[in-house]
Amino acid sequence: LVAAVLALVAGAVAHRRLDDRRGVPLRPDLAAALRGERYVPPREEPAEEPRARTERGVFIAFEGGEGAGKTTQSRLAAIWLRDHGYEVVTTREPGATKTGMRLRALLLDKETTGLSSRAETLLYAADRADHVANVIRPALERGAIVVSDRYVDSSLAYQGYGREQDVEEIAAVNAWATEGLVPDLTVLLEVPAETGLNRLSEPADRLESEPRAFHDRVLRGFRELAEAHPERYLIVDASRPQQEIRREIQDRIREILPDPVPAAAEDITSTFPAITDV
Ligand code: TYD
Repeated sequence: LVAAVLALVAGAVAHRRLDDRRGVPLRPDLAAALRGERYVPPREEPAEEPRARTERGVFIAFEGGEGAGKTTQSRLAAIWLRDHGYEVVTTREPGATKTGMRLRALLLDKETTGLSSRAETLLYAADRADHVANVIRPALERGAIVVSDRYVDSSLAYQGYGREQDVEEIAAVNAWATEGLVPDLTVLLEVPAETGLNRLSEPADRLESEPRAFHDRVLRGFRELAEAHPERYLIVDASRPQQEIRREIQDRIREILPDPVPAAAEDITSTFPAITDV
């Protein structure tokens, strides 16, 4: 009996050290070996991922103060993405929807005088709610890449820091308006207020006409927001040549892109799409 126990222990130790098929259960492996076959364990179904990125598209926002070049850089990024086979929806705030366009006119018209800061905040949030519900979410649900010129951070920076209102409260209003939709990546283009304001074409709109100190607060706001979540921001020095900026943005976007060809299509074609530099 003792010899049998010892033999069992020795066998177990030997099996542990010499097991060439770790992770494969011993009994069915032995049974299959006796039949002269090789046992292949059934593949475990991977746990379902909650709303995998590839199924819901990618949301990229461009932010910055006046004259930072957001519009140019967001367009360049969209062109580059389309060239690589992605469906891209370019959009902007305020004014991407029919209602939004009316709100934009109201918000930027210098004739709109005496608008309270809270009302201004709510009008931007209303534009955003409509934008998310009618443009951004449907596109993301189709799996498209959405590139938006401005999003929630503009309200936090302009209405929060600029107008000196409570940033947390504005964040709460916007979280409600957008049902908590946060960009996968926010590209913050930074130029000094002076440089940006000098780049603008005349006449200045209602926000652009704010004093220099307002714009300085806005820029500080953008930076603080970006620094609080470096994993989902790219801070770009936008006073450099356009091509350099474009390249830096492409490099960062590349990190979060899904495969442009659905996995099922790849099974058939066995092609491997790779993104190369233009
Ligand atoms: P934008 O269209 O980016 O201006 P421009 O075409 O001059 O670059 O934005 C319009 C203005 O609205 C801009 O001054 C910033 C301001 N704004 C806010 O104050 N809060 C917001 O939430 C948004 C989206 C924009």
